[in-house]
Amino acid sequence: MNRLTVLQQLIEQKKAKTYLEIGVSTGWLFFKINAPAKVAVDPHFAFPWYNKVRRLTHAGHSKFYEETSDAFFANHANVLKEIGGVDVAFVDGLHTWDQAYRDVLNLLPYLNPGGIILMHDCNPPNEACAYPAKDINEYRKIAATGAIPGYLNSWNGDVWKAVVQLRAQHQDLVTGTIDLDWGIGFVYRGSNNHPLPYSLSDLQAMTYSDLEKDRKNLLGLVPPSYAASLINHLNV
Ligand SMILES: C[S@@+](CC[C@H](N)C(=O)[O-])C[C@H]1O[C@@H](n2cnc3c(N)ncnc32)[C@H](O)[C@@H]1O
Repeated sequence: MNRLTVLQQLIEQKKAKTYLEIGVSTGWLFFKINAPAKVAVDPHFAFPWYNKVRRLTHAGHSKFYEETSDAFFANHANVLKEIGGVDVAFVDGLHTWDQAYRDVLNLLPYLNPGGIILMHDCNPPNEACAYPAKDINEYRKIAATGAIPGYLNSWNGDVWKAVVQLRAQHQDLVTGTIDLDWGIGFVYRGSNNHPLPYSLSDLQAMTYSDLEKDRKNLLGLVPPSYAASLINHLNV
């Protein structure tokens, strides 16, 4: 199981009509996802030739925005209304706490009733992967100096804090993390019955060692098998 199987399963279970992916890169995931209407957002599409061809053949039912998610929400988010709102979204753009959190908040007004947002990179396996850099280039630059012990060339950043913030500060959202594929966060509308007792300044002070001490609780970590039952929690 991975992000592709989890997303595709949800799309089929929900009979979802629309899919939005923020952070698309080579299109490995985007072009495999099967949904009636899809929207791709990334400031630098890195499509190999066969995905450049697919981009042309998908033009009828897929839309491509080569810009940051912030620019997309500022200038082109109307397209999400035009396609009938978002049923399933995948947030996998800039791997920073504030950007991942903002992507989720910006998406919410367009999320259809019963819709769901999944987020990648929510469960970093070690401190090096969770390094809170500004972006991947800065991460690699710092790693090249030897300042990131245990560097694996895999960057999850501090996206995990977006999950903690959603679990702490949003009473009307249910947020958790499926323990597979670097941690697949999920967010849907519903009652957050046990909000985490953390303020913004608590969150700012949190470090990777806090995550290690209380990972299951902070992330709302659930086993991979939970993915199949997520659909039962969405008020469709
Ligand atoms: C890990 S890759 C995405 C992988 C893809 N979702 C997959 O599963 O195959 C992250 C992508 O986020 C893009 N990105 C970086 N900053 C972004 C931003 N501010 N808004 C949207 N995408 C961004 C990068 O260009 C990169 O292609």
